[in-house]
This record gives sequence, C-alpha cells and structure tokens, in this order.
Amino acid sequence: MSMQYKPKSLWRLALATTIITAVVGSVTSCVTSGQMKQSKSTPPVPIGPLEARKAPKASLVEMGKRLFFDARMSGDGAISCATCHDPTQGFTRQVDKEGKPMALSDAYPGTRHFRNSPTLLNVSYKADFAKVGWGWDGHMGANLNDVVRDQLTETMMMNIDMRLMHERMKQDAVYIKMCQENFNGECSSGKGRKALVAFMDTLVSTDTPFDSGTMSPAAQNGQALFEGKAGCINCHDGSYFSDGMPHNTGMPENMDVFKDPLRHIAYRAVMTNHGVPNQENWRRDVGFFFVSKRYADVGKFITPTLRELKYTAPYMHNGLLASLDDVVAFYNQGGGMDDPLADELKPLGLSAQEQQELVAFLESLSSTTPVTVEKMSIPQEYEPLPNWLESHN
Ligand code: HEC
Ligand code: HEC
Repeated sequence: MSMQYKPKSLWRLALATTIITAVVGSVTSCVTSGQMKQSKSTPPVPIGPLEARKAPKASLVEMGKRLFFDARMSGDGAISCATCHDPTQGFTRQVDKEGKPMALSDAYPGTRHFRNSPTLLNVSYKADFAKVGWGWDGHMGANLNDVVRDQLTETMMMNIDMRLMHERMKQDAVYIKMCQENFNGECSSGKGRKALVAFMDTLVSTDTPFDSGTMSPAAQNGQALFEGKAGCINCHDGSYFSDGMPHNTGMPENMDVFKDPLRHIAYRAVMTNHGVPNQENWRRDVGFFFVSKRYADVGKFITPTLRELKYTAPYMHNGLLASLDDVVAFYNQGGGMDDPLADELKPLGLSAQEQQELVAFLESLSSTTPVTVEKMSIPQEYEPLPNWLESHN
C-alpha cells in the first residue's frame, strides 16, 4: 500500500500528535508534582505499621500459589516465578544452585539479567507508594497486574505468550477445577494473573519487633538516628518505608552487566524496548532515565522498602552491597559519587556504635518468623481432560 498524504490522514496525524502530547504532558506533570512533594518543605510521612487489609479469597490464593510454582508458565517450561523469587530466600534469589552468591538475577534460559531480583514481600502495598512505576527504576508498569503480565511475557523472564498460558491452564485438570471454583468459568490468562496477584497479596510482614513495639534499646536508638541525624526518613518514609520516588544515591556500577555479554544484551534489549536515547554508548545503568528520558534522572532508582531486609541480601538494584553494615557505611560516607547526587545525602559522621544501632533498627523491620510458603512441586505433565470428548461431540 502506498502512502498518500491526503488532507484526511494529515488531520489524523495532527490529532494523534495532539493526543500523544496531551498524554505525555499529563504524565510529565504528574511526575513533576510528585517530585515537588519531595521538596524539603513537605515533612516525611511518619513511619508505622502497615495498615491491615482484607485477606484475599483462600481458594484464589491457592490457585495463584500453584501458578507461582508452575514452570509450565514459562515458555520452555524451565523456570517459574519461584526460581527468581524463592520463598526460602525472602522471595528473592541470593545464591545459585552451587550456593554461590548472586548479586544479579538469572533470567530465561540463554539470557541473564542486569539487576538484582527484588523481594515480593509486602509488594502488594507498593501500589500505594509506587508513584512513578514498578521495578527498581519504575520501568515495569503502573500496577501489580501489569507487572505480572510483563514478567510472564518478557522474553528474558518467563517468555510465555498470554495465549499459550491460557492453553496450558485449559489443559490441566487442576486449573480447570480452580477456575470453575473461583471464576465460575473457563480458565484464561487474565484469571491466572488475578490469582497470582492474590497470592502476592498474602506475602505480608507478620511479627516485626518494630510493629509490635518490642525493639531492643539499640534498635530504639537506631530509630532516633533514622528519623534524625541520619535523615533516612527523608526518602524511606511511611509504613512501607518508601516515598516511591526516584533518587540518585550514587551506587557504583556492577560492571558484570557490561562484562557478561548475556547480561549486556539483556540490558540493551530493555533499552531498545524503552526507546532510550544514545543506547550504544551507555556503560552504566541509567535507572529512571528509562522512563523519563530526562538526563537529570540518569542513575536514579525508586526508593525500595526497608521491610524484611534480614532475608533479602544482597542490597541495591545491582546487589553490590552484601550486608546491612555495608549499606549503613555507604550512607555514612554520604552515598556514592555522582553528579547530581540526591540533595538529602551528605557524610553523616556516625560513630561505629551509632552505625550498629542503625543496623539494629533496620533488622527490627523484619518479621521474627520469616514470611514464607512451603515449596510446591507441580507435576509437569498434562492430565487427561475429564469428559473432553463427550462435551465436544
Ligand atoms: C528470571 C528471573 C525472574 C523470574 C522468572 C520472575 N521474576 Fe519477577 N523480577 C525479577 C527481576 C530481576 C526483577 C526486577 C527487574 C527490574 O527492576 O528491572 C523482578 C521484578 C518483579 C516485580 C516488581 C517488584 C517491585 O518491587 O517493583 C514483581 C511484582 C515480580 N517481579 C513478580 C514476578 C512474578 C509474579 C513472576 C512469575 C510470573 C516473576 N516475577 C518471575 C526476576 C524474575
Ligand atoms: C535520597 C533518598 C534516600 C535517603 C536519604 C536514604 N535512602 Fe536508602 N535508598 C534510596 C534509594 C533510591 C535506594 C535504591 C538505590 C539502588 O538500588 O541503587 C535505597 C536503598 C536502600 C537500601 C537497600 C534496600 C534493598 O532492598 O536493596 C537500604 C537498606 C537503605 N536504602 C537504607 C537507608 C538508610 C539506613 C538510610 C539512612 C542512613 C537511607 N537509606 C537513606 C534512597 C534513599
């Protein structure tokens, strides 16, 4: 078909441009207003316990849990969500099969990831705080259901087509029963995503010393530092300990991303998908620049929650800090080196004891009994469908 620049198509182009400008404009103003809230004139939201929520339906959670552990939900049946969000490792992935530490996540067979696998503990609360999007830098979508779809379809993650997921669920007698029970109908990928979200809604901190008011004296001193001299609360505020906004803490690069061709390719693929300018030349993780394309945002990451840190080492988007001692030492020297670094960061001058107290406070934000679920092993064959022939003849 040849392109004809008739007045009508020009008009359409103009309309499309207006719509795009309007949408981009509103997204930008939303981001800007979020950042204005960040200015020092707005006091941080007080820290406190997470608000209790209505538990999702148990049968829907069961369905989500099964999908979470089911490797048939990845394209070639090799991995499941639990591969990278392991319930015995704080729903992150910290060690590989040989027990070696993993700063950066694995990915779909044949690829490797360029970021640390984040925890899913309390992730359902992130919806209230993620002001600019999900993932370490906000590039992963606007709500949990979107993020789950991304994780399923993204080639370097589960690499499954939504239609294939639908078919695989339809060919499994257990899912057929679960879909009937929960949705009174046939399975679909959308119902599967709802179930996965319901499962994640149950991964919530239980008995943290902070929430139950049973912190040690050292942790109490640590809280005073957190809210005072150390200024952590300027970004890690509210009950999720995150302002949901991007900041540049000056974390050094994890050069494995660029030394390992598979990680480098994965990084370049995501840059391509997001239309990141000048992508051949970046030798650093550009962070929130993925989303905003504003050079001032290069190197900014979304403030992560500080809940359950005891179970989720190593830390930061690239897993470069192995322990909470390392994290506190990093902040004590004023963060890393970058320009512009977040205004809130400066050398803190904390004594060795104060640093330990701050670590004790961070540890008090973790459940005393780790939040976990028993691993499920899902038979990977398909069961014969009950009465299939009868119902289709
Ligand atoms: C191959 C490893 C891998 C698999 C498999 C995987 N994830 Fe992830 N997940 C990651 C990594 C790495 C990130 C962070 C990506 C980023 O920020 O760039 C992430 C991010 C997320 C987030 C966002 C967390 C946040 O704090 O914003 C959610 C939610 C999530 N994954 C859920 C899932 C679910 C549900 C599945 C299964 C359908 C799944 N993941 C499968 C590695 C994996
Ligand atoms: C300017 C805002 C800001 C301030 C102030 C701040 N942080 Fe952070 N924090 C962040 C951001 C952004 C990240 C993620 C950086 C990354 O991934 O590279 C982070 C990451 C962390 C992590 C790693 C969490 C994880 O799951 O990997 C810990 C722990 C932490 N901060 C503790 C603190 C403590 C303790 C203080 C006070 C000494 C503090 N932060 C001050 C913004 C801030």
